[in-house]
Amino acid sequence: MTGRFITIEGSEGAGKTTQLAFMREFLEQSGCPVTLTREPGGTGLGEELRALLLGHRADGMALTTETLLMFAARAEHLERVIRPALAAGQWVLCDRFTDATYAYQGGGRGLPMAQIAVLENWVQGDLRPDLTLLLDLPVTVGLARAGKRGAADRFERETVDFFERVRMTYLDLARQVPERYRIIDAARSVERVRVEVKSVLAQWLERG
Ligand code: TMP
Repeated sequence: MTGRFITIEGSEGAGKTTQLAFMREFLEQSGCPVTLTREPGGTGLGEELRALLLGHRADGMALTTETLLMFAARAEHLERVIRPALAAGQWVLCDRFTDATYAYQGGGRGLPMAQIAVLENWVQGDLRPDLTLLLDLPVTVGLARAGKRGAADRFERETVDFFERVRMTYLDLARQVPERYRIIDAARSVERVRVEVKSVLAQWLERG
Protein backbone atom coordinates (compact mmCIF):
# COMPACT_ATOMS: atom_id res chain seq x y z
CA MET A 1 0.00 0.00 0.00
CA THR A 2 1.28 3.46 -0.84
CA GLY A 3 0.63 6.37 1.50
CA ARG A 4 -0.26 9.95 0.68
CA PHE A 5 1.99 12.98 0.55
CA ILE A 6 0.46 16.17 1.97
CA THR A 7 2.37 19.44 2.24
CA ILE A 8 1.52 22.66 4.00
CA GLU A 9 2.82 26.03 2.83
CA GLY A 10 2.45 29.70 3.66
CA SER A 11 4.39 32.84 4.52
CA GLU A 12 5.73 33.67 7.96
CA GLY A 13 3.16 33.68 10.78
CA ALA A 14 0.55 31.66 8.85
CA GLY A 15 0.19 29.14 11.70
CA LYS A 16 1.45 26.03 9.87
CA THR A 17 2.86 24.35 12.96
CA THR A 18 -0.36 24.69 14.95
CA GLN A 19 -2.50 23.42 12.07
CA LEU A 20 -0.14 20.50 11.41
CA ALA A 21 -0.69 19.24 14.94
CA PHE A 22 -4.47 19.29 14.32
CA MET A 23 -4.03 17.61 10.94
CA ARG A 24 -2.00 14.81 12.45
CA GLU A 25 -4.62 14.23 15.15
CA PHE A 26 -7.49 14.25 12.64
CA LEU A 27 -5.77 11.85 10.23
CA GLU A 28 -4.76 9.45 13.00
CA GLN A 29 -8.32 9.44 14.33
CA SER A 30 -9.45 8.62 10.78
CA GLY A 31 -7.17 5.57 10.79
CA CYS A 32 -4.33 7.03 8.69
CA PRO A 33 -0.81 6.42 10.08
CA VAL A 34 1.09 9.72 9.97
CA THR A 35 4.72 10.73 9.54
CA LEU A 36 5.06 14.41 10.43
CA THR A 37 8.16 16.14 9.13
CA ARG A 38 9.50 19.46 7.86
CA GLU A 39 11.77 21.21 5.36
CA PRO A 40 14.44 22.22 5.37
CA GLY A 41 15.15 19.43 7.85
CA GLY A 42 13.52 16.13 8.73
CA THR A 43 16.81 14.17 8.95
CA GLY A 44 19.98 14.60 11.01
CA LEU A 45 21.90 16.08 8.09
CA GLY A 46 18.84 18.02 6.93
CA GLU A 47 18.53 19.71 10.32
CA GLU A 48 22.22 20.65 10.17
CA LEU A 49 21.63 22.16 6.72
CA ARG A 50 18.58 23.97 8.14
CA ALA A 51 20.77 25.57 10.81
CA LEU A 52 23.19 26.74 8.10
CA LEU A 53 20.35 28.07 5.94
CA LEU A 54 18.43 29.90 8.66
CA GLY A 55 21.37 31.13 10.75
CA HIS A 56 22.78 34.60 10.25
CA ARG A 57 25.97 35.01 8.30
CA ALA A 58 27.90 38.23 8.20
CA ASP A 59 29.19 37.23 4.76
CA GLY A 60 25.74 36.27 3.41
CA MET A 61 25.02 33.28 1.16
CA ALA A 62 24.94 33.12 -2.64
CA LEU A 63 21.48 32.39 -4.02
CA THR A 64 22.74 29.34 -5.92
CA THR A 65 24.26 27.97 -2.71
CA GLU A 66 21.04 28.61 -0.78
CA THR A 67 18.98 26.82 -3.43
CA LEU A 68 21.33 23.85 -3.72
CA LEU A 69 21.42 23.45 0.07
CA MET A 70 17.59 23.42 0.12
CA PHE A 71 17.64 20.65 -2.48
CA ALA A 72 20.50 18.81 -0.75
CA ALA A 73 18.40 18.69 2.43
CA ARG A 74 15.41 17.61 0.29
CA ALA A 75 17.34 14.80 -1.42
CA GLU A 76 18.32 13.43 1.98
CA HIS A 77 14.78 13.83 3.28
CA LEU A 78 13.25 12.07 0.27
CA GLU A 79 15.64 9.15 0.38
CA ARG A 80 15.66 8.56 4.14
CA VAL A 81 12.20 9.64 5.29
CA ILE A 82 9.58 10.54 2.67
CA ARG A 83 9.93 7.73 0.12
CA PRO A 84 10.30 4.94 2.74
CA ALA A 85 7.30 6.27 4.69
CA LEU A 86 5.12 6.46 1.56
CA ALA A 87 6.21 2.96 0.56
CA ALA A 88 5.19 1.72 4.04
CA GLY A 89 1.70 3.21 3.61
CA GLN A 90 2.27 6.23 5.86
CA TRP A 91 0.60 9.56 5.31
CA VAL A 92 3.47 12.02 5.13
CA LEU A 93 2.60 15.49 6.44
CA CYS A 94 5.38 17.85 5.48
CA ASP A 95 5.80 21.41 6.72
CA ARG A 96 6.96 23.05 3.44
CA PHE A 97 8.39 21.37 0.34
CA THR A 98 9.51 22.42 -3.15
CA ASP A 99 6.74 25.02 -3.55
CA ALA A 100 8.65 26.95 -0.87
CA THR A 101 11.72 27.00 -3.13
CA TYR A 102 9.60 28.42 -5.95
CA ALA A 103 8.09 30.99 -3.57
CA TYR A 104 11.22 32.07 -1.62
CA GLN A 105 14.21 31.48 -3.91
CA GLY A 106 12.15 32.01 -7.09
CA GLY A 107 9.57 34.68 -6.24
CA GLY A 108 11.32 36.22 -3.25
CA ARG A 109 14.92 36.24 -4.47
CA GLY A 110 14.40 36.17 -8.24
CA LEU A 111 15.98 32.81 -9.18
CA PRO A 112 14.54 31.74 -12.58
CA MET A 113 11.73 29.23 -12.05
CA ALA A 114 13.14 27.06 -14.86
CA GLN A 115 16.31 26.48 -12.83
CA ILE A 116 14.25 25.33 -9.84
CA ALA A 117 12.27 23.04 -12.13
CA VAL A 118 15.51 21.36 -13.29
CA LEU A 119 16.47 20.61 -9.67
CA GLU A 120 12.92 19.50 -8.85
CA ASN A 121 12.93 16.97 -11.68
CA TRP A 122 16.43 15.76 -10.85
CA VAL A 123 15.94 15.34 -7.09
CA GLN A 124 12.31 14.19 -7.04
CA GLY A 125 11.80 12.41 -10.36
CA ASP A 126 8.04 12.42 -10.80
CA LEU A 127 7.19 12.56 -7.08
CA ARG A 128 4.92 15.52 -6.27
CA PRO A 129 2.66 16.12 -3.26
CA ASP A 130 -0.86 14.68 -3.56
CA LEU A 131 -2.34 17.64 -1.73
CA THR A 132 -0.96 21.05 -0.70
CA LEU A 133 -2.67 23.34 1.79
CA LEU A 134 -1.69 26.97 1.33
CA LEU A 135 -2.30 29.02 4.48
CA ASP A 136 -2.65 32.46 2.95
CA LEU A 137 -2.75 35.76 4.83
CA PRO A 138 -1.74 39.40 4.32
CA VAL A 139 2.00 39.85 4.75
CA THR A 140 1.80 42.50 7.49
CA VAL A 141 -0.54 40.32 9.58
CA GLY A 142 1.80 37.33 9.26
CA LEU A 143 4.92 39.32 10.08
CA ALA A 144 3.29 40.84 13.17
CA ARG A 145 2.45 37.32 14.38
CA ALA A 146 5.90 35.94 13.57
CA GLY A 147 7.53 38.91 15.31
CA LYS A 148 6.02 37.78 18.60
CA ARG A 149 7.84 34.44 18.41
CA GLY A 150 11.29 35.77 19.28
CA ALA A 151 14.55 36.27 17.39
CA ALA A 152 14.07 36.46 13.60
CA ASP A 153 15.98 33.97 11.40
CA ARG A 154 17.73 34.85 8.11
CA PHE A 155 14.45 34.70 6.14
CA GLU A 156 12.24 36.39 8.73
CA ARG A 157 14.53 39.44 8.49
CA GLU A 158 13.56 40.00 4.85
CA THR A 159 11.56 43.03 3.70
CA VAL A 160 7.79 43.32 3.33
CA ASP A 161 8.30 43.48 -0.48
CA PHE A 162 10.13 40.15 -0.38
CA PHE A 163 7.21 38.52 1.48
CA GLU A 164 4.69 40.10 -0.90
CA ARG A 165 6.52 38.36 -3.77
CA VAL A 166 6.57 35.09 -1.79
CA ARG A 167 2.82 35.34 -1.22
CA MET A 168 2.05 36.17 -4.88
CA THR A 169 4.19 33.26 -6.07
CA TYR A 170 2.35 30.83 -3.80
CA LEU A 171 -1.00 32.13 -5.06
CA ASP A 172 0.21 31.79 -8.68
CA LEU A 173 1.34 28.20 -8.04
CA ALA A 174 -2.05 27.43 -6.52
CA ARG A 175 -3.76 28.78 -9.64
CA GLN A 176 -1.48 26.78 -11.91
CA VAL A 177 -2.21 23.42 -10.22
CA PRO A 178 -5.69 23.85 -8.68
CA GLU A 179 -6.23 20.08 -8.50
CA ARG A 180 -3.39 19.80 -5.95
CA TYR A 181 -3.83 23.04 -4.00
CA ARG A 182 -6.37 24.23 -1.44
CA ILE A 183 -6.06 27.89 -0.42
CA ILE A 184 -7.09 28.57 3.17
CA ASP A 185 -7.62 32.05 4.59
CA ALA A 186 -5.22 32.02 7.55
CA ALA A 187 -5.93 35.57 8.73
CA ARG A 188 -8.84 34.16 10.78
CA SER A 189 -8.64 32.70 14.28
CA VAL A 190 -6.76 29.43 14.84
CA GLU A 191 -10.08 27.74 15.59
CA ARG A 192 -11.77 28.85 12.35
CA VAL A 193 -8.75 27.86 10.29
CA ARG A 194 -8.74 24.49 12.04
CA VAL A 195 -12.39 23.88 11.12
CA GLU A 196 -11.67 24.60 7.46
CA VAL A 197 -8.49 22.51 7.40
CA LYS A 198 -10.45 19.61 8.87
CA SER A 199 -13.23 19.97 6.32
CA VAL A 200 -10.75 20.09 3.43
CA LEU A 201 -9.08 16.92 4.71
CA ALA A 202 -12.42 15.19 5.30
CA GLN A 203 -13.61 15.96 1.76
CA TRP A 204 -10.31 14.84 0.35
CA LEU A 205 -10.42 11.57 2.33
CA GLU A 206 -13.97 10.90 1.14
CA ARG A 207 -12.93 11.41 -2.47
CA GLY A 208 -10.42 8.61 -1.89
P1 TMP B 1 9.75 27.55 8.75
O1 TMP B 1 9.70 26.11 8.40
O2 TMP B 1 9.87 27.80 10.19
O3 TMP B 1 8.70 28.36 8.10
O4 TMP B 1 11.17 28.11 8.23
C1 TMP B 1 11.77 27.70 7.09
C2 TMP B 1 12.26 28.90 6.33
O5 TMP B 1 12.97 28.43 5.18
C3 TMP B 1 11.14 29.79 5.83
O6 TMP B 1 11.49 31.14 6.00
C4 TMP B 1 11.08 29.49 4.34
C5 TMP B 1 12.47 29.03 4.01
N1 TMP B 1 12.51 28.05 2.91
C6 TMP B 1 13.00 28.46 1.69
O7 TMP B 1 13.40 29.60 1.53
N2 TMP B 1 13.04 27.54 0.67
C7 TMP B 1 12.64 26.24 0.82
O8 TMP B 1 12.70 25.44 -0.14
C8 TMP B 1 12.14 25.84 2.11
C9 TMP B 1 11.68 24.42 2.31
C10 TMP B 1 12.09 26.78 3.13
